Parts: sequence; structure tokens; C-alpha cells
Amino acid sequence: MIYLNGEFLPLEEARIPVLDRGFIFGDGVYEVIPVYGRRPFRLSAHLARLDYSLAGIRLANPCTHERWGEIIAAICAKQAFDDQAVYLQITRGVAKRDHSFPAGVAPTVFLMSNPLPLPSAEQIAHGVAAITAPDDRWRHCDLKTTSLLGNVLLRQLAVDQGAAETILFREGLLTEGSAANALIVQDGRIIAPKKDWRILPGITYGAVYDFANEARLPFEMRDIPEAEVRAAAEVWLSSSTKEVLAVTRLDGAPVGSGTPGPIFRQMHALFKQARGVAG
Ligand code: PDD
Repeated sequence: MIYLNGEFLPLEEARIPVLDRGFIFGDGVYEVIPVYGRRPFRLSAHLARLDYSLAGIRLANPCTHERWGEIIAAICAKQAFDDQAVYLQITRGVAKRDHSFPAGVAPTVFLMSNPLPLPSAEQIAHGVAAITAPDDRWRHCDLKTTSLLGNVLLRQLAVDQGAAETILFREGLLTEGSAANALIVQDGRIIAPKKDWRILPGITYGAVYDFANEARLPFEMRDIPEAEVRAAAEVWLSSSTKEVLAVTRLDGAPVGSGTPGPIFRQMHALFKQARGVAG
């Protein structure tokens, strides 16, 4: 069961008009919210980021946070599985094709929830391979928009080479992955790129920051030159559907010891613990 413009209906029955601006222009924003045991994880942070993305594309939020909470709870209750990934999308609605904003048009609101595709035990134990590429996306990577062609093309580079993710550099500095934040560990310190227009302010990145503080693990936010990534003891990806995942091969070369490092294992355990008390 999905939610579309005020109604719950089976996915196969859901239809949107071809002139939806999401389809024509990629004119919309989205969120992916992990749900553990039917309880959304860090929901208020996801809704705050949704407000930020909507403001960034100048689209009014069609619902209050309270109403979003109700819709998300309802969509979760309709699924047969407990751990879920809620996908929420808002587009600028249906209108005659014209680049400028249409007047008086209702946004399209769509939600679905799928089983949460967390990394496999094998991926957690051994890490994954990643490749690198120049970050050629636009200058609003902090907005979670549905215009994802840049990310799509970059992810496919990894798939073409049998890797899990493409890690991106802009002007010699680490930005993020095609669909995840990227962090490194050096000398026992977790180091992450600053949150600015170059990266999505990941909710999982925020959770890593909070868990690190609670566990008294040093956490630094700063520019990270490419050479530092290649020499790092550990490289991690973070996202709502990956939690934290170790990158153990980068462009074919081992990262650190070539196995998930001790700080990764500690952080992964903190996520596992948090799953039990999500709310
Ligand atoms: N992607 N950076 C990019 C480009 C992303 O697409 C994502 C998440 C993240 C991590 O953000 P968060 O921790 O809030 O999930 C960073 C989602 C999962 C997706 O597009 O499916």
C-alpha cells in the first residue's frame, strides 16, 4: 500500500499524470526515513531536512510535522514487515510544461515503504569496494531533490566496475558518495567533510556525530584532501539504508588493513544498540 495525494492505495493502482513536474523537470524533493520495528528513526531530523529542501526549491510544505508523522505511521502500519525504508516525495504538481513555477497548483505527495535493505552480514564483516570520480554535480547538493541524474550516472560508474559506491572529490576535496555520506578515520579520529552546499546533510552522519560524542570518540568536521582519504586508516559510508558501512577497497587498493577497522566496529555496534531504542 502506498499514499498518493491523500489516499492509501495499492502500488499497482497508483497513477500520476505525465505532466507532473516531477516527471517533466525532476522538480521535487524527497526523504528516505529508516524505520526499525515500525518506529521511524530520527523522524524530526528528517522532517527538518524536508523543510530545508522545500525552502531551497521554494515549495511550501503541504503538511505539518504532526500530519507527516500520522501519514508515516499509517503507511508503516500497512506493511507486512517491521523494518522499513519510508520514501516520501513532494513535487511541484501537474501543470502545462513551462519552466517557471505554475500558479495555484497543488503539490503531488507520494509515500511508499519498502523493507529496509540494510547491508548484509558479509558486507558488514568484510566491507565493500568503492571507486572514485570527480564530483560533477550542481551547487545545491545540500538539497535532497529528486533531480538525481548526476548521482545516478556516478553510481553506475561503480556498478560498471563491480563496486558498491562511487566516492566523489570536488577540487581535490572529499565530498560524499553518490547516495551516502563519506567519512574517514585517522589516528583514532573520525573526520567528516563540513556540511555545506557540497554534501547532503545526512541524518545518519548526524547520528554518527551524536554517537561519537556519547562514546567520547573525537569527531572533526573539515575539508579532507583526496590524499588523506587514500591514506586513511578507515573509510566509511553512512546513509539511512546503510547505517555505517566500511569501505575496504578504494580504486582497487586496500583501505588501511583492508578489513573493517576498530572504530567502524565500535560505531556499527552503537547503531545496532540504537536500533533497539529508535524513536
Ligand atoms: N540517500 N548523500 C547523498 C547524496 C544521499 O543520497 C544520501 C542518502 C546521503 C545520506 O543521507 P541520510 O543519512 O540522511 O540517509 C548522503 C538515500 C538513502 C537515497 O537516496 O536512497
